[in-house]
Amino acid sequence: MSPCPSLRQALRAATRAEHEALEAQPLMRRLVSPELTLAEYSLIVRAQRAYYRLLEPALWPFERQLRDRLPDAGYRYQSRLPALERDSRQLALPADESEPGWVFRPTSAEQALGVLYVLEGASQGGRLIARRLEQVLALDGENGARFFSSYAEHSNWTLFCRWLEELPSEELWGEAITGAQKTFTTLHIHFDHWQRRV
Ligand code: HEM
Repeated sequence: MSPCPSLRQALRAATRAEHEALEAQPLMRRLVSPELTLAEYSLIVRAQRAYYRLLEPALWPFERQLRDRLPDAGYRYQSRLPALERDSRQLALPADESEPGWVFRPTSAEQALGVLYVLEGASQGGRLIARRLEQVLALDGENGARFFSSYAEHSNWTLFCRWLEELPSEELWGEAITGAQKTFTTLHIHFDHWQRRV
């Protein structure tokens, strides 16, 4: 049986269309294409780095609140930035210190839970993408693909799903769903913006 059938299923059903649209976004399609180039992959790393730089400062206070409420679950969000900064250095990417971005910033712990659902759920596709990067560009966790390969090595998904199961009463699910849907749609807009640079 799935580790978290209820709120997780609601989130999954409510964001199915957004996930499908994001998978069809041209940069995301390239990411799993056998013709992916290093230039395209580099742009995707820069786009992800810009996204997490803008999102994480807004996420941390609510992630902390959620952990205070649910101290026993053992889940904690791991910043994606160390891996992205490392990949950027290994690929000799520009520093991009003040790039604009399209980010949904949560305003409540429940919304942040929806944001975290999207970020942790990305590990499910991330593992597949890591294999592709190794096959197509010979990149792995040591030479420029740490962000994606870390999904293959360890994922917080199971712990996070247990966390979802303990939270919150059904009347708060709507807030979490809003957080997840807005995260998908803004990430899509963010990638569209970066794609114009190809
Ligand atoms: C090329 C891009 C992508 C591919 C190929 C892909 C693929 C997948 C796959 C195969 C799954 C597992 C589906 C299942 O269990 O039935 C999945 C789940 C998921 N992906 Fe993606 N994905 C991509 C991009 C993303 C991105 C960019 C995000 C968010 C940042 C994301 C968020 C999620 C979430 C939240 C789930 C979990 C759904 C659930 O089981 O509750 N995906 N993805």
